[in-house]
Amino acid sequence: MIIDMEKVSFSYSGGKAVLDSVDFQLRGKQKIGLIGPNGSGKSTLLYLLMGLQKPSAGIIRLFGKPVRTEADFQLTRRRIGLLFQNADDQLFSPTVIEDVAFGPLNLGMRPPRARQKAKETLEKLGLTGFEERITHLLSGGEKKLVALATILVMEPEVLLLDEPTTGLDEETCIRIMEILNELDIGTITVSHEYDFLARTTQQVFSIRQGKIGFNGSSAELHSHYHIHRAGTVPHVHPYSQSDDTDPASNGDDHGKPGLDARARKPK
Ligand SMILES: Nc1ncnc2c1ncn2[C@@H]1O[C@H](COP(=O)(O)OP(=O)(O)O)[C@@H](O)[C@H]1O
Ligand SMILES: [Mg+2]
Repeated sequence: MIIDMEKVSFSYSGGKAVLDSVDFQLRGKQKIGLIGPNGSGKSTLLYLLMGLQKPSAGIIRLFGKPVRTEADFQLTRRRIGLLFQNADDQLFSPTVIEDVAFGPLNLGMRPPRARQKAKETLEKLGLTGFEERITHLLSGGEKKLVALATILVMEPEVLLLDEPTTGLDEETCIRIMEILNELDIGTITVSHEYDFLARTTQQVFSIRQGKIGFNGSSAELHSHYHIHRAGTVPHVHPYSQSDDTDPASNGDDHGKPGLDARARKPK
């Protein structure tokens, strides 16, 4: 068991419970999606797993061991990557290569090796040639990919993603989707984008009023509002991700796989 939360409760000082005796697990290389309304505690849950906040009650076990103190979390943080919702929270060096090499250097890797590793990671993410670019001048999508590089260079055993596609253009969303699908590690992805979750996760949980519940397999999650005749009606497509024949579509305007990755509920 990689992640095991047992009866975990949490509230910010003076506030009401954000998490109320939550049980939640991630096993092996499971890919889990997490949905929930704004303010329901999705980011807080990820922060608790990183030790950025500490539970007010309950036990968090990571890689089979309880983690309580800052020293415990320092060890597990090397093995868990968190992609923050806002890439600016993740990037702080003047150039891309410095940002990506920072983690390995911080772990004591020699500078030439750290630079080489950073370069290879950038290449894998399609960011060849970005090494000397000024981080704060990058576009939102580029920043997000560089932020992902700063995490993947550390070779995490599990990856937490906080709304990884929010505000990004379709091309970057598809690229992130492809990167996630190539990763052979467990992931927890917080997102409001159902199609993105359907294509990058296996199961989906939802969080509401402090509780987490199992929603179902991600393949069934294709029950949303989008552009075709059943578009304004929430519906389930009884087919798997690999089969894009859509019985509800009547052939009109239904997106190709990947291209409706940013479909949203109508306002
Ligand atoms: N630093 C903080 N101090 C006090 N309250 C906070 C803080 N961060 C978040 N909250 C509150 O905790 C609740 C959960 O927030 P959050 O985990 O960010 O939700 P989500 O990511 O699902 O939108 C919200 O009511 C939010 O206002
Ligand atoms: Mg959040």
